[in-house]
Parts: sequence; structure tokens; C-alpha cells
Amino acid sequence: MLAFLHISDTHISADPNYSLPEMPEELPHPRRGAEALLEAIQRLPFTYEFILHTGDVCADPTAEDCRSARALLAEFPAPVYMLPGNHDSASHMLDILHNGQSLHVLRDARLRFGEYHLITLDTCDRGDLHAPVVSDEKIDWLDRQLTQVGADSAIVALHHPLIETGVPWIDDQMRVQNGARIHDVLRRHSECIAAVIHGHIHQQMDTHSDGLLYISCQSTWSNLAAYPQLSGPEPDTLTPAGFNLVMLQKRRAFVRRFCLPAIIR
Ligand SMILES: [Fe+2]
Repeated sequence: MLAFLHISDTHISADPNYSLPEMPEELPHPRRGAEALLEAIQRLPFTYEFILHTGDVCADPTAEDCRSARALLAEFPAPVYMLPGNHDSASHMLDILHNGQSLHVLRDARLRFGEYHLITLDTCDRGDLHAPVVSDEKIDWLDRQLTQVGADSAIVALHHPLIETGVPWIDDQMRVQNGARIHDVLRRHSECIAAVIHGHIHQQMDTHSDGLLYISCQSTWSNLAAYPQLSGPEPDTLTPAGFNLVMLQKRRAFVRRFCLPAIIR
């Protein structure tokens, strides 16, 4: 069995006055959400192998935000494996956050944990950062990595969602625009994939398609709505911040959602 935590979209900022004009005024500083996450994780009464952060570690792609994130992530009680999101700088993350021991920055990588393979795909390097296009070379690379999994099990992790949901805002503005091509590759390897894990949309979402389970988790800073006619980002103040516990047994994925206490500004 492999157990790990899934966290995402912490948007840690070194700027004490950080806010975005499109976000609700009452939203607390992202640092407070990340600290609430740390506090909750430190109190968990069970052990797990690692913490997977699916990107937007920082609010802005700056060295200052990375240093602020490093101070906080260093306190986490298990190794943290993180992917760059559209708000991050992969090069600052590698220079400042990655230490190869407790903090690991992954772009296109495959790591083994016994019979489980964690395959990460950096989706943030081409086209619109909110709705990027992934290169053919990367898609071929992913295909080859999944072939290497053989009789073992894989989790595929990336920042952006891949497949259409029916929510126009997610499908047109937040999704990998050639995600259907990547889904086709994943579908061909679906027998070895326990789950596809992503962030970016600031909400928990499960999509089951062609034998693949796609899951996301909330942001610890701000959460967003999704419904059939939604054409742009809309705050969802009713969704609490949180994280996921993922437990894999061979190719079966069990996901437990944890919510964090509301933070009043
Ligand atoms: Fe984000």
C-alpha cells in the first residue's frame, strides 16, 4: 500500500499585503491558509510516504515568494514533491526550493516507491499558462514512461486538468488545450494507472472517464466555483480549504477529503 497527501495551489506570497483585485476582499492572506494546512498535517494521527503538491506553490514567480515557501514547506513532516504551476517559476523553484532530501521539485519525472511509480508532467512551459498546449515530445515521453510501469501501478500528476468537464470556464480557459491527446495516451495505459492527480482549478473535483480517475483538491487560499454555464472564474466562498489523503492498493485508489477550518480575515 502507498499512502500520500495531495495538496495544491498554496499561492504563498512574501508580500504581506498580497491580494488580487478579482478575489473577494474578505479573503485572508495566502500564508494563513498554508499555515493552517501545516498545522492540520502536523496533527494527523497516521503516517504516509510523502506530500504531493500539484503546483502554484507561490503566488508570483519570484525568488522572494520561493524563499517564503521554502521556510514554510521545510516544516512539513514528510518529504514534499512539487510541480510548478502557472504562478510559479520552475527555475526559481529548482534553485531555491529543491534540496533533494525533504523538498523535491519535479518537472517531467518518474520516481519509484516500491511497486508504485509517480510520473509528473510539467504542463506550464508552452502557450497560455492558464490553458497551455503540451508538446508532442512531452506526450511521447509520457507514453514511454507509462510503458516502463509494466505490471506495477502509476499515479500521474500534473498542474492542469486534461479532459472536458462541461464547465466552459474550465474547458476553455483552465485545461490543457490538447488534453484529449494526453487522455488518449493515458487511456491506452489505463490498466496500470491508479489515478491522475491535478490542481489549478482551486476546488475538489472527480472525473471518471475511460477507466481513468481524475482528481483535484482545493486551494488553501481561495476556492472557485464550477457549474454548467460558468464562463469565467467565480469565487466559491462556501468551499473550505483542504487536502486529500490518497491510498493506493495496487491499482485501486482510495481518496479521503480533509477540510481546514475557515479562516476569518
Ligand atoms: Fe492556482
